[in-house]
Amino acid sequence: MTTLSLIAQKGGTGKTTLAIHLAVQAQRAGLRVLLVDTDPQGSAGAWWQRRAADAPALVEGQGTELAGMLEEARRRGFGLVIVDTAPHSSAQSRACAEASDAVLIPTRPAILDLDAIGITTALVADLQVPAQIVLNACPPPTRAQEPRLVTEAREALTAYPVPVCPVAVSQRAAYSHALIDGRAVVEFEARGKAATEIGALWQAVQAMLGHGREATRSAS
Ligand SMILES: Nc1ncnc2c1ncn2[C@@H]1O[C@H](COP(=O)(O)OP(=O)(O)O)[C@@H](O)[C@H]1O
Ligand SMILES: [Mg+2]
Repeated sequence: MTTLSLIAQKGGTGKTTLAIHLAVQAQRAGLRVLLVDTDPQGSAGAWWQRRAADAPALVEGQGTELAGMLEEARRRGFGLVIVDTAPHSSAQSRACAEASDAVLIPTRPAILDLDAIGITTALVADLQVPAQIVLNACPPPTRAQEPRLVTEAREALTAYPVPVCPVAVSQRAAYSHALIDGRAVVEFEARGKAATEIGALWQAVQAMLGHGREATRSAS
């Protein structure tokens, strides 16, 4: 079983949006997926309540209880656990990062968001958890070319000790529309640009997980 947490000290960067989309994508790829909502705001839990399908499974709990929840998930035979986390809680974020094989740190490409990322990158660097920063809600590419804002954000982020995911997620209405009735973009507009992006993000995440702690452990 592999555990991936989405962590960022700032609210509104896309933790819940990306956690949900990656969970649905992984489920469709054939994994047994558990989404863990550790944010007291319960946005992922509310999405799941609105959802018609049973999978992915969802549980709610505190980040500091995550290790115990993962034991239970392992016993229940889940292959992948995706953990959505609360902003502004260093103890909770630390507990989630510690219990994870890898961490994704979503950020918007705006300068104030980029400045706010240091606490989270320091946390994963301190714990030596494999991690990537994901640029979210970016201007969409034009003619398959990366927008300047995104390229500049990548450059600014080289100041931090965590690599940036090659896949940037665009600002698209589909990401919020799909969630209204408990779906993900791939279930809402299977051939849409958002669904294609999430497919690419899932590929990048799989590559990261393949190089994560789990892989290191099984190789040794
Ligand atoms: N890529 C995106 N395109 C459009 N809207 C987005 C995107 N990512 C997030 N949002 C919207 O931004 C808001 C904050 O996103 P959310 O995932 O709840 O962030 P967090 O969980 O980090 O607080 C939500 O209203 C969500 O629908
Ligand atoms: Mg959230």
